[in-house]
Amino acid sequence: MNVADSEWVAGLLDKSGYRRTQRLEDAKIILINTCAIREKAEETVHSRLGRLAELKQKDPSILIGVLGCMAKNLADSLLESKPYVDLVLGPDSYRRLPEIIRQRQAGQGRSVDTQLSRFEVYDDLFPTRQSGVNAWLSIMRGCDKFCTFCVVPFTRGRERSRSVESLLAEAEDAIDQGFVELTLLGQNVNSYRHGEARFPDLLTALAAVEGVRRIRYTSPHPSDIDRRLLDVMAAHPNICKSIHLPLQSGADRILRRMNRTYTQGEYLALVARIREVLPDCSLSTDIIVGFPGETEGEFLATLEVMEQVKFDSAFTFKYSVRPGTKAAEYQDQVPEEVKQARLKRLLELQKPISLRRNRAYVGRIVEVLVEKESKKSDRQWAGRTDSNKWVVFDKESARIKDFVDVHIDSSYGVALKGHLVAPSEAYHAVA
Ligand code: 5AD
Ligand code: SF4
Repeated sequence: MNVADSEWVAGLLDKSGYRRTQRLEDAKIILINTCAIREKAEETVHSRLGRLAELKQKDPSILIGVLGCMAKNLADSLLESKPYVDLVLGPDSYRRLPEIIRQRQAGQGRSVDTQLSRFEVYDDLFPTRQSGVNAWLSIMRGCDKFCTFCVVPFTRGRERSRSVESLLAEAEDAIDQGFVELTLLGQNVNSYRHGEARFPDLLTALAAVEGVRRIRYTSPHPSDIDRRLLDVMAAHPNICKSIHLPLQSGADRILRRMNRTYTQGEYLALVARIREVLPDCSLSTDIIVGFPGETEGEFLATLEVMEQVKFDSAFTFKYSVRPGTKAAEYQDQVPEEVKQARLKRLLELQKPISLRRNRAYVGRIVEVLVEKESKKSDRQWAGRTDSNKWVVFDKESARIKDFVDVHIDSSYGVALKGHLVAPSEAYHAVA
């Protein structure tokens, strides 16, 4: 989401005559787009800002700005503790950036604008995208779910969606620029609603845009996944069969305390429905351990769900207290050592499951979209399957953005290794 937001900011600054530098040291204006989701994300920003302070000491004319969720959350303390920060802009105030830069450069005082809007969706701004395969498409902003652990409803404000027409125009523009994959983004992507249009309607419209070879979306809320969404996914070959389905916890009492609006049983029933409608769909998840009051038994319930579902991958987090949220007030916080130990046990359970799910691909021929050079060798490409698995293979005559058939020879870590097959061989194998 922040990458997508930064592309808007870059678009806005491009239009105002600024240019992006390749090296930090060459920049006269340095903006950090921040995340406030966990304490660790904030710590990263603090240490990055510390390094920028040194640059500013050498050249006081440099302008330093903090944008995004942390700006919204910590504006006052940022200004107080970091006198070298020139401007602080929350996620709904990017439009004011060129004006605020000009004012500051003209000698005016430091600026703060962290006002949230009920309407701002940056519908008319065109992002400056880094060239590549995938274009991020931000379809809605904000979140009204108020999970008790989460700061997003406070930093990003209320849910609001962009019009289907503007998203179609942006998708067509991205295709014209050479992108072949769209990833639809939103804090709560499937609660998209604009006029009569709901998320399945938007997906249907975007899937029909010529040149859109693949569509992905993230992150949905399990409670907002309905049968129609699954049917639309099944009906369109260019909508990827991969769903990120944040579980957070497998225990009903904790889910209730988190305000997640589903039970373990409902979540498992949803997984069963997904697998019935989309048999090849991969599933990933987010899990929090050590939420306030989580007992050993409740933690075991989470492990049980993981054992049952067998996610392709899981993003796992220790609960991090976010001041201002409801869960921060709960008195029964879990000690750090317990959180750490539970995280370790969770990873130990998930790792072999991920490996096994990847190993199931060995011997199969899969379609891969070539995305970039492999990190390990300049003679190899890396690309993803429809189900979001990374595959590495020798380049041969394939080029970036090609769709190629790859025979999977082995799995290692989180990726698969394979070799290109000639189209006739692929046909043979499928037949
Ligand atoms: N502590 C730990 N993890 C959190 N997440 C959100 N808020 C917190 C928090 N306070 C995790 C959730 C969410 C993901 C994006 O970050 O699992 O799905
Ligand atoms: Fe945060 Fe996601 Fe819950 Fe919204 S749905 S409050 S963004 S965890």
